[in-house]
Amino acid sequence: MKIAVYSSKPYDEATLTAANTAGHTLSFLTPRLEPATVALAKGCDAVCAFVNDQLNAEVLTELHGYGLRLIVMRCAGYNNVDLQSAKKLGLTVARVPEYSPFAVAEHTLGLMLCLNRKIHRAYNRVRERNFSLQGLLGFDLHGKTAGIVGTGKIGSQVCRIMLGFGCEVVAYDRYPNEEMKAIGVRYMPLEDMLKVSDVVSLHCPLTPKTHHIINAASIATMKHGAMLINTSRGGLLNTTDVIKALKSGKIGALGLDVYENEAELFFEDRSESELTDEVFARLLTFSNVLITGHQAFFTTEALDKIAAVTMENATEFQESGHVPQMHQVV
Ligand code: NAI
Repeated sequence: MKIAVYSSKPYDEATLTAANTAGHTLSFLTPRLEPATVALAKGCDAVCAFVNDQLNAEVLTELHGYGLRLIVMRCAGYNNVDLQSAKKLGLTVARVPEYSPFAVAEHTLGLMLCLNRKIHRAYNRVRERNFSLQGLLGFDLHGKTAGIVGTGKIGSQVCRIMLGFGCEVVAYDRYPNEEMKAIGVRYMPLEDMLKVSDVVSLHCPLTPKTHHIINAASIATMKHGAMLINTSRGGLLNTTDVIKALKSGKIGALGLDVYENEAELFFEDRSESELTDEVFARLLTFSNVLITGHQAFFTTEALDKIAAVTMENATEFQESGHVPQMHQVV
C-alpha cells in the first residue's frame, strides 16, 4: 500500500520505517495536510495524518476523488477529522487509541511540579548566579485537592499519581470509572469539582460538548489562585477568559501542552519569524505560565507504539478491507 505521511518529522520517518515490516511504500511529506497540499496524496492508497492536519470536508472529498479509502491517524485524538464527511464518503478512519497514557500523565505532572516550585524560573536564576529564593515559594501537593476532568486512560493515570502524592482526588467524567472509585477518587459535577480543587487538570477529549469547558463562567467557580493544567486539546480552554483570570490572580498558575490555535505555531522552529498570535504572545508574558509545544506524548515508548499500531492498521486494511474495530473511528 502506498501511504502519504503528512506533517512528517525525522522521528516519524525513523519509527514508521522501523515498524513497516509489511513493506508499504511510505511517502514522507513535511507539509501539513490541508486543501493546498492534499494533491500530494495523488496516487496513494492511504493518508497518515497527525494532530494538526486538516481533514475537513474539502480535503476528504478530494482524497476520495483520488480513489483513496483509508486514513490512518498516528495519534489518539481525532477532533481534526470531519467524521460526518468521512462516513458519507465511505472513508475508513483509524487511530491509535492508546499508546502510552504514562507519557502524557507524567508530562502533566512535570508541568504541575515545575510551575508549583517555579523550577523554570530557578533554572534561569541559577545560571545567572542569582540564588535568591524570593518569588519561588511553592506549596506542598500533599494534602491538597486535585480535580481531574476526564478519567479515561490518561486521566486515571494522573489520578493514581496524585493519590501517590497524598492528594485528595476529585473528578468529573460523564462515565465515572469504577476502578478509580475503588482507589478513592470522588466523582462530582464539574462545578463542585472546580470549587474544591487546588489543581485542575484536563483529560477529556475535545468535542462540541467540551469546547471551552473552561470559560469565564466555569473559572468563576474555581478556587482563587488554583493551578490549571491542560495537556489534552487547546480548544478545551477559552484562552482569552483564562488570560483575564491570570491577570486577576483567579488562576494562580497555568500549564499548557496544547493551545487553541497551535496549528499555526507548534511543531516548527519559528525562532526567526515574528510572533503574530497576540493571544499566545500575551500568555508568554506571565511568569506563572509554562507552555510546551504538544510534546506530552513524546517518549520513545509512545513513538514506537504509535508507529507499530499505525502500520498494523494499514496492513489489516490492505488484507481484509477493514481495520481492527478498537482502532476504527469511522
Ligand atoms: P480516553 O478516551 O481514554 O478518556 C477520555 C475520558 O473523557 C473518558 O473517560 C470520557 O468518558 C471522558 N469524557 C468524554 N467526554 C466528556 C465530557 N463531555 N465531559 C466529561 N468527561 C468526558 O482518552 P485518553 O487516552 O485518556 O486521552 C484524553 C485526551 O488526551 C485525548 O482526547 C487527547 O485529546 C489528549 N491527548 C493529548 C496528548 C498530548 O500529547 N498532549 C497525547 C494523547 C492524547
